Amino acid sequence: MSAAAVRAMARADELAACSERPGEITRRYGTPALVAARDLLEAWMLEAGLRTRVDRAGNLIGTLGREDRPGIMIGSHFDSVVDAGRYDGTLGVLLAIGCAEELAGADPAHDLAVVAFCDEEGARFPTDYFGSRAFLGGALPDGALTDSEGATLASGIETAGNAAAGPGSGLPANATAYLEAHIEQGPVLEAAGHPLGIVTSITGGVKLTVTLTGTAGHAGTVPMSLRRDAFSAAAEIALEAERAARDDGEAVATVGQVAVSPGAANVIPGRATISIDLRHQDDDRRARLLGRVREIVAEVARRRGVDAGIEMIHDERSVACDPGLGERMRAAARGLGLDPPALPSGAGHDAVILSAHVPVAMLFLRCAGGISHNPAESVTTEDVAAALAVLTAVVRDP
Ligand code: GLV
Ligand code: MN
Ligand code: MN
Repeated sequence: MSAAAVRAMARADELAACSERPGEITRRYGTPALVAARDLLEAWMLEAGLRTRVDRAGNLIGTLGREDRPGIMIGSHFDSVVDAGRYDGTLGVLLAIGCAEELAGADPAHDLAVVAFCDEEGARFPTDYFGSRAFLGGALPDGALTDSEGATLASGIETAGNAAAGPGSGLPANATAYLEAHIEQGPVLEAAGHPLGIVTSITGGVKLTVTLTGTAGHAGTVPMSLRRDAFSAAAEIALEAERAARDDGEAVATVGQVAVSPGAANVIPGRATISIDLRHQDDDRRARLLGRVREIVAEVARRRGVDAGIEMIHDERSVACDPGLGERMRAAARGLGLDPPALPSGAGHDAVILSAHVPVAMLFLRCAGGISHNPAESVTTEDVAAALAVLTAVVRDP
């Protein structure tokens, strides 16, 4: 077992303590918990011999500094969803640092840049791959965007970003590829008995915020026929969106956020806001599903006499991973006696954004029960060691 793999597991435990709330892992963008996690990552990068910098958004980049050879970036994100597991994103960053450790004193064929993205989940502000977009030099989103408590994105950037860093792409001049190792977040590898898998494509997704506005009123006095209940409309939209995804057969639809106002047991809800997350590997079918959901919102709102607004937070196409890079990882895995299957990713990843600039590839690690976005996320040190050996071989070998 490589010492670097054991260390990566211990570090995942240590990072888990960097949380907004004790007793769980919640590490959203622009919080002191996120900065504390980044400080740990930076210390480990420095120990691994990487030169580090933090960009204006708060991404952390560590470079080996061998600019005379083709560069490979390896990374993932270190923010989390609310009440998360300890491996989603974080493990990919730790494996990249482990790779730098494994290569210490060697003369690898490639340069290495470790990239730790500060906001992939969009769990606090209504942003869309904020970290990786900012890394690539994109315009920062509107600082006036707010979280659910009314704090602004500008204040989050003040906490997490490096004001002294200028705009501009952080893509190293010699970058030829971006690799991301990530837990599968699904059950396929475990069911098939494979520690690792090679990702073929990353599913596109759409995220909407739907706001329904009716009339708040007395729960005891307003007859059912005269109500404009914003939450009942939202609930019907959620169920209809679920039905539309089931009818497609391969799409998935999720309503994961619900806010009802004024929020009292004896008041008819005057306003309700829900998120709708829609995903499909096939871009045309996802577009059709989105069209159907727009119709549902309009139809339910009309029938129930409420006003409806739809805000598009995120609309990403499906992205293909580079077959050549995938084959290089597969060859390295075969050297370990493994035969990793090819599989698509149903989850979104920073590789989606990087793919517009460099070829990308993803290595999946099996996780117990396929469970993710849940504190029960679990991986084995053996599988982490195998992933580390694969990544290291790809950077080391021509
Ligand atoms: C990221 O975890 C996503 O797929 O939503
Ligand atoms: Mn996630
Ligand atoms: Mn992730």
